[in-house]
Amino acid sequence: MCGIIGYSGPLEARTILLDGLSQLEYRGYDSAGIAYFDSRSQIHVVKKTGKVANLRETFSSISDSSHCGIGHTRWATHGGVSDVNAHPHHAGQVTLIHNGIIENYHSLTQEFQLEASLVSQTDSEVAARLLDIFYEGQPESAIKQLVNRVEGSYAFCIMFNDRPGEIYAVRSVSPLVAAYTRAGALVASDLTALIPYTRNYFVVPEHHIVKLTGYKISICDPDGKQVSPEMMKVNWNTDAAMKNGFPHFMLKEIHEQPEALKNTILPRLTKGIPDFTDDQIPDELFLGCDQIHVIACGTAMHAGMVARSLLEPLLRIPVTVSIASEFRYEEPLIDEKTLVIVISQSGETIDTLAALRLARTCGSRTLAVVNVKGSTIARESDYVLYTHAGPEIAVASTKAYSVQLAALYMVGCRMALVRGRFTGEQASAFLAGLLDVIPAMETMISRKDEEKNLVTHLLSQHDTFFIGRGLDYAFSLEGALKLKEISYIHAEAYAAGELKHGTIALIASGVPVIAIATQEHIFSKTMSNVREVKARGAFVILVTQEHASVDPDLADIHIKIPDLDDRFTVFPIAVVLQLIAYYTSIGKNLDVDQPRNLAKSVTVE
Ligand code: M6R
Repeated sequence: MCGIIGYSGPLEARTILLDGLSQLEYRGYDSAGIAYFDSRSQIHVVKKTGKVANLRETFSSISDSSHCGIGHTRWATHGGVSDVNAHPHHAGQVTLIHNGIIENYHSLTQEFQLEASLVSQTDSEVAARLLDIFYEGQPESAIKQLVNRVEGSYAFCIMFNDRPGEIYAVRSVSPLVAAYTRAGALVASDLTALIPYTRNYFVVPEHHIVKLTGYKISICDPDGKQVSPEMMKVNWNTDAAMKNGFPHFMLKEIHEQPEALKNTILPRLTKGIPDFTDDQIPDELFLGCDQIHVIACGTAMHAGMVARSLLEPLLRIPVTVSIASEFRYEEPLIDEKTLVIVISQSGETIDTLAALRLARTCGSRTLAVVNVKGSTIARESDYVLYTHAGPEIAVASTKAYSVQLAALYMVGCRMALVRGRFTGEQASAFLAGLLDVIPAMETMISRKDEEKNLVTHLLSQHDTFFIGRGLDYAFSLEGALKLKEISYIHAEAYAAGELKHGTIALIASGVPVIAIATQEHIFSKTMSNVREVKARGAFVILVTQEHASVDPDLADIHIKIPDLDDRFTVFPIAVVLQLIAYYTSIGKNLDVDQPRNLAKSVTVE
């Protein structure tokens, strides 16, 4: 979760660290801190609860120069949100920042009798104190001892009092990327902090010790042997991680969806049919399976729910969707004939990663649908299908969801073709249907005032229900999550036919029900359920296709999306539901991009 950055080089370190932390803040924003060597090679630590802007204010009056330092933005796990629990942690010769969880911190505290010296409640300080005990002037040897003793996940960036200009980094599970650039050496928990300086970077190999100085980066493997990194290139630009005139990243990212879809779909078309040759995904992967198991968390899991509703009838093989945090502790019925599709925007979600590893031990072949190039999930999966959404900064996922869907629809199309469920003509007609969603999304974005106006009714509500059947139900799940996470209004998605089995007791006068009815074959059934909630006084916001004929008394607000093949309506509906959540959050004066308690990348359990 937490964002971490280290810099050594000719430029002003504090500026680079603070700017980097602003880029990384979406990973956690309970507190922020930096540590740096001043011009007399003394380490200073400054940390504060609250956002990076808070920390930045502290530095307006400091003029002394600094060329080496580390910075951290925290998402609290061990110990409350306080200045003392903020990072960096200083212990004797050691100053350290940490992302991850040290699971055995309690037993280490006892074994090394650290209780009296600890000033914070964090597992991270235990690591700092332990490292200080091991440190006898040899950073690599001390770090190795630390790594041998700690259990759990970690990415550490470390400075030693007597090593000015040097930063050491090491990781296990938690992500770290690094680059030597014209501005100097940088290490960070993710790419967004590096892209202002370079497109070329490497992923810090697990358990290797990386040393950064102002003029180079060196890497030692666990045996102490110097190794060269495997360089990677990212095609994101700096603009992609800026708001570019939009008031919030979320709104910008909603607007970017049509472009993101084009970038994800078009390079993979040959004669109008999905072709994954450049992704090195062989057709044989799609032929050799008798079931599909989709695993993910949050929004990515909801993309999986849509995929299930689409793929099962299309391919006529079982498609199961699992929540990664559950799957990883189950005894799954999967084997070498199972195609496991893991979905993750960040490619670092710890539960999804663990689920992927479990699937591989079961002999299943794995395909990862991932947005961040070179991320752990992408690297560990047998095959990877990158979505090309560019960096997604708002904590609430929007464009990543749409491109995940696009990628899954393409996989479905290719599978149907190679498995004989589609002729070539049917495959290209399906793909044409997928491309039609791009103007449909543009239309809904251009009509965003409809959602802006309708949310007035939601602002004072405590509960909201989303209902739909089939694919519409799968979309509803994401609509409810979006509303919850950024407006703090309780929202639940229900299969419309399930309402009568209890939930309808909660429908009283004025309770908002957002009903989605875009599937022709079950339209009348959903409308009956709409009638039932209307009869009990619900405030109904109905979403249908343009052509649908609806009794005007049924809906308090009726939103129409452009007519499409029923299988593709999720795309414009995603825009509608995202905008409803966005404007509700704005209307309640909340922090849209960084909602309370959340973090963008969930790298701890
Ligand atoms: O990076 P991932 O796609 O693996 O993240 C999964 C979820 O944490 C993420 O989708 C989360 O649910 C979003 N905040 C929802 O908007």
